[in-house]
Amino acid sequence: MKVALIGFGTVGTNFARVLHEKRRLLKDRYGFECEIVAVSDLLRGSVHDPKGLDIPELLGLVKETNKIEGYKGGTKGLDSIRTIREVDADVVVEVAWTNLETGEPGLTHIKEALRAGRHVITSNKGPIALAYPELKRLADENGVQLRFECTVMSGTPTIMLGIDGLAGHVVNGFRGILNGTTNYILTNMEKGGAYADILKEAQRLGYAEVEPSADVEGWDAVGKTVILANSIMGTELRPGDVEREGITKIAPGDIEAAKRQGKRIKLIAQAWRDGSRVKAKVAPELVELSDPLASVSGTTNALTFETDGLGAVTIIGKGAGGVETGHGILTDLLAIHRSM
Ligand code: HSE
Repeated sequence: MKVALIGFGTVGTNFARVLHEKRRLLKDRYGFECEIVAVSDLLRGSVHDPKGLDIPELLGLVKETNKIEGYKGGTKGLDSIRTIREVDADVVVEVAWTNLETGEPGLTHIKEALRAGRHVITSNKGPIALAYPELKRLADENGVQLRFECTVMSGTPTIMLGIDGLAGHVVNGFRGILNGTTNYILTNMEKGGAYADILKEAQRLGYAEVEPSADVEGWDAVGKTVILANSIMGTELRPGDVEREGITKIAPGDIEAAKRQGKRIKLIAQAWRDGSRVKAKVAPELVELSDPLASVSGTTNALTFETDGLGAVTIIGKGAGGVETGHGILTDLLAIHRSM
């Protein structure tokens, strides 16, 4: 399988590392062989070699120079659009930065790739939250797959559970903790940490968005809620349809007051059916300690689907992190490999 990688930041570099480290296991277990034939990143540069790029060399260059243009061999200078159109790749992995207002540049990248008949894997929440129904139609028309496991709960297989694992069920709603950064902040505030310091640490560890107001104001969780509702509950919500409140107004005193009541404050994302419509909300809630969501701490996320056949089905796992997301991209790649 030949992969073109659009974006070589935290997710792109971690995916490349995981792919390289697991080469042997992937071949032995699945007969899966894969080359990254192109990388194009707005800040770090681009390189293309139809024979496949040397991943340790790329990662070494990033570490030493923060660029990949010093790569020995290959063709340099193809921008993202030319890489998508001109490079002979089966799959485009789109992991450029996310924009929840316009979806760009990811939205254009994904449309170009689908139109060029390439499978697409993305961790980019903006395009999927804003345009899933349209992108899915485009993928179907072109006979290719659009996979986006890492947009929700990083590499924890939430989308696969909802779409494949629960196939045949009616999902009537869901409720969960979908943002790692805010859960990390709330958990550490409870231990006495200061909001600003904990947020800085979450940025340093690569959990928070480039613009962390997306996390703390609830937009990131709204995006994920829309993605889940549209792809699993078959509705067509827009981010503006979701009632939203972030965690910025929560003071240490509120956390203490919750503790005294035997409760915890959590940023809860949920969607439910209301007649023929689906409604959704992201807001802080006081959660009883007996509620399983109360014990979900740090960057761990959790999601419970309400189904007609099985009742509640819950998945708990890492919700943020470069390595975790890199693994999720690999899981999507293997799903495409199985179907080819
Ligand atoms: N900023 C996001 C979070 C990253 O904290 O959950 C994973 O989507």
